[in-house]
This record gives sequence, structure tokens and C-alpha cells, in this order.
Amino acid sequence: MCGIIGYTGRDNAKDIMLDALELLEYRGYDSAGIALLGEDGTQIMKRAGRVNDLRNLCEEKKPVGNCGIGHTRWATHGGVCDENAHPHRFGKITLIHNGIIENYRELTEKYELEGKLVSETDSEVVAAVLEHFYSGDPYSAIRRTVLKIKGTFALAIMFDDQPGKIFAVRNVSPIVAAATKDGAILSSDVAAIVPFTTDYFVMPEFHVVCLSPGNIEMFDLSGDKAEIEWLKVDWDVSRSSKGGYPFFMEKEIMEQPQVIGETIYPRMKEGIPDFSKEEIPDHILADCKRICVIACGTAMHAGLVGKSLIQAIIGIHVDVVMASEFMYNDPVVDKNTLVIAISQSGETIDTLEALKFARKCGSPSISIVNVKGASIARASEYVIYTSAGPEIAVASTKAYTTQLAVLYLLTARMAMARKLWSKQELSEYMKELSRVPEVMAKVLEKKEEIHRLAGSILNAKDVFMIGRGLDYSILLEGSLKLKEVSYIHSEAYASGELKHGTIALITEDTPVVAVVTQDKLKSKELSNIREVQSRGARVLLLIKENEKLEDDGRFANVFRLPVMADTFMVMPASIVLQLIAYFVSLDKGLDVDKPRNLAKVVTVE
Ligand code: M6R
Repeated sequence: MCGIIGYTGRDNAKDIMLDALELLEYRGYDSAGIALLGEDGTQIMKRAGRVNDLRNLCEEKKPVGNCGIGHTRWATHGGVCDENAHPHRFGKITLIHNGIIENYRELTEKYELEGKLVSETDSEVVAAVLEHFYSGDPYSAIRRTVLKIKGTFALAIMFDDQPGKIFAVRNVSPIVAAATKDGAILSSDVAAIVPFTTDYFVMPEFHVVCLSPGNIEMFDLSGDKAEIEWLKVDWDVSRSSKGGYPFFMEKEIMEQPQVIGETIYPRMKEGIPDFSKEEIPDHILADCKRICVIACGTAMHAGLVGKSLIQAIIGIHVDVVMASEFMYNDPVVDKNTLVIAISQSGETIDTLEALKFARKCGSPSISIVNVKGASIARASEYVIYTSAGPEIAVASTKAYTTQLAVLYLLTARMAMARKLWSKQELSEYMKELSRVPEVMAKVLEKKEEIHRLAGSILNAKDVFMIGRGLDYSILLEGSLKLKEVSYIHSEAYASGELKHGTIALITEDTPVVAVVTQDKLKSKELSNIREVQSRGARVLLLIKENEKLEDDGRFANVFRLPVMADTFMVMPASIVLQLIAYFVSLDKGLDVDKPRNLAKVVTVE
């Protein structure tokens, strides 16, 4: 969702802003804008549309200034138009905002702003309240404003009479900041900072930061100076470029063997799953009576695989709850419920709020997060970072499989902590887990074959995906992937459920993707496939390469998966589903990395 950038220093802020906004495009947006504070005062350029449209506007108007803020907007309050794009200006104040101000109507009334605002946004109201409190002391105006506004916010603010300075404050919505060679920079994302430096910090909530060339200061809301906790980007910066691939999604799919290895091998000590670096005590894994996984979208689908693993191996009940629904179902979590929050960005607001609620109920918590220092990581008791590196494509691929890898490790550690396995059982499981990168690489070698198979659904209007158990879990994810990048309507069904209604939709025009990787479910799954074939469906089957199919002639297409123990087959099968979605989108000529209406980081409820 909205992206934020701010720069002050010796360089031309305009070019830095525009380049950074391009790096933030992946978050999803509909308008873009920048404001520059220079000798000619404050100049604002903003436009509904793409960053490139803004670039053209700036080429024409040539704004100058060494201090600036920039924004990509994903509309929440007010439609997509130039007036509603950020930055917003009121009096001496110019600001950009990510988040939602819940009490903007009350504030409009209280400060008599009706008729004085030029946009329909909640953000402009904040600028007006800041102006109301501003009499030369930015810190005091920010403190007093923050006490009045309710909601989530990351604000970057410039005051006309404070040249070279950018102020920032946040609640929930993230801001990271860093020093550059001769200036300072802030952003909603580390990705926009990485071209300048690998040292950065995550702004704590309700602190005010002031950036000026060569200086960064931070204060808490009572005005006391606060210590900055510096972090280092620990992924190779080349990971944030396309590296010769046409789209990030393809590059990120191809990176999976490597990033899975980087996620699991450092957590295997002499063949034993090890979370000592994360300081996760075994009792947390041994004592819980049930587990509740909270996540959204793809991360929730990873949770469903985790549920199958944990229930089968540990024998305790696992709920996987859509974080956005968590609060509306009177959640029953307590000190005996281990809460596992899963999130690539670590900023998904629904997951964050659900996690905070569970912690208030006394639940121990572990989060599985990809972005270091993210809000969900900070809000949970323990955090396990996936080593996926930056995931730029909106469609999540490598983050998902690294989340699965962590869940495999966690399940093994839990089995150990509960003394459920013999040494041999543990060793067999861990050996199989360590084969995952090599097996995934084998699937990727068959990329072109998968491309051809994707052709069989290229022109479909609807696609069904069927399987049972673990196969069904990964099809939910495969189907989401296809929907989001190809815009083809697709549904994943537990194949046994089809004849309770949905089979009515199956015709000879309906491609069906079926996954059969679990020995114990095979005969039932094959019967269900026969049922849809009898209604004319063309079936693309994913099945293990050592599986004998008596009548494979009846399948429109068959893809043979390299063999692993059944528990791990989701890993190679997931890659095939990701590549199918990717190639359909590519061959339809769509913008694979930036599907319409979607945002990479969902920071509004
Ligand atoms: O950053 P998170 O993992 O918390 O994001 C959750 C979902 O928004 C995300 O997985 C979304 O479903 C992806 N676009 C799917 O590809």
C-alpha cells in the first residue's frame, strides 16, 4: 500500500525521490507525488497514475530542492485523482501519510476545516491540525497533533520555515531511516534505502525523528532523546534487482532452492533442528495444548500446511485463522495456546492486531517473518526470520516456501521437545528436509515443460484445482496465485467435496488441475479425478514420477514430480503451481509483478 520516501542532503532530491518511488511501485498504488523544499519554497508535483507520469510532469516543471518527500498512494479515503494524491499541504505544512486516520471527521469539525480542505483525504486533515498547533516548534506541533489523531499513521512532514529538515512520526505503519554519504533518508521500505546504505533503523512507534543533512535525531513523545537501534541489511543487495529475468516473480521462483537452503541449513546443528539463535525455549513447544496460526493470504496457506504437519506428527489441535476474521469470531486463545503469526512483510495490519490481541490473552507467540525488525516481529515474543530476501513481486512465492521450510523445522523441534521421535525418525525427517533445495532445483530444470503445460489453461475462463489433504492445502495457494497474476477465475476444491455441489460447474471447457502426491489418498483422489473427467473436464495431473498410472492416456497433460517422502511433496509441487500461474500471466502479456488492485503490503484493515 502507500509508499513513503524522504531525502535531505546535497543531491537533487527530485531524482532520488522519483527513483525511490519506482522501487516502491511494487507495494501497489494508484497515484504518486513529491514535494521539494528549496530556495524557491515548497513545490508539489502530484498525479493520479504511474510514477512515470509523475516523472514526465517533473521533466516539464523542473522543480528543485535538496530536501523532499515522496509518496505512492493506494486510495482509501477519496477517489483516485490528482487532488487526493499526496503530498498534502496546509499553511506551512507539507506531508505524506500511510495509514488511516479514524477520527478525521471529528477533527474536521473541531478545527473548523469544512470548506478549507482541497482533497477528500483523512491525511490533509492531519496537515491542518499540525498547522493549527505550529508556532515555530515542530516537535511540539507533532506531539500535540499525535495526541489528537486516532488510527494508524506513518507521517513524513516538512515545515516551510525548517529548510533541509524532514520530521517523521508513526503508529503501526512502518518507517525505516538511514544516513547516506552526505544526507539522510527515510522510507516505508528497506528496499528504497538499499541503493544508499545497508545500515538502517526501524523507527519505534510514537517517536519523532528529525532528518537533516548529516544528522538524524530521535525523541520520544515527552521530548527526551532516544537511542537509535541500528540494523544491517543481511541479504545480498543484488537480490533487489531483476538479475536478467523479465519479471521479479520468475526470479523469485528461481531463487527458491537457494533461499530455502539459507533458511534451513543454519538451523540444523548436526542434523538436529535448532532454534537457539532465536532463543526459543523448548518448553514453549512442549507445553502448549493447542496452536493457533494467524495469517493472511499466502501466509495463511502456509499455515494450513503447518496444521497438517503438526496434527499428524505432534497430535495436537491446530487452528488456522484468517487474521482479518480473527477478532470477529470471539477467539478462544489462552496461555495454553501457542500463537504462530506468519507474514512475509511483517506489517499486515490484520495479522498484527490479531497477534496483539492473543498476547493480551496470555498466549505465548512465535512469528515467522521475512522482513527484519517488522512490526509483527517486534510484537511477538519470539521471531523466526525466513531468509527469502526481498520479495518484490506482489505474488508471494519464495516467501511462502521459506515459511513452509520453517514450519517443517519447527514441527521437528516440537516432536523432539515432546520426545515423540526416536533418533532414527528424527534423522530420516531431517535428511529429507535437507534434500528440499536439490529437489526443487530439479523441478526448476523443467521450467520449459511447465511453460508448455501452462498453455493448456491460457484461454480458460474458469479453472478448478482439486486434491485432498496436503494436496488440497497447496492447491488453495496455487489457485490464489493463478487468480492474482492471470485474472483467471480459479477455485481450489477438496476433491471429495466436489459432488456436494461444485461438480455442476464442470464442463468440457473446464480445465482441472489435480495434484496427487499422498499415497494414502491416491486411490480416492484418482476416483475423484475420474468423476470430473466423466463430465468432460480436461485434467492436468501432477503426480510423483515413480507412480504407475494404468491409463495416463486419459489425462490431457501429466507432470511428473521428483520423489520425496509424502510429507515433503508439497515443496516440489508448489513450484509447479507457481510457474503455471507465472507463465499464464506472462503469455497473456500482463504486468506479472504488479497485478491490478493489489498491494504487496496490506497496512489497512
Ligand atoms: O506480508 P504478508 O505475508 O502478511 O501478506 C499476506 C498477504 O497479503 C499476501 O500473502 C498476499 O496474499 C499475496 N499477494 C499472495 O501472493
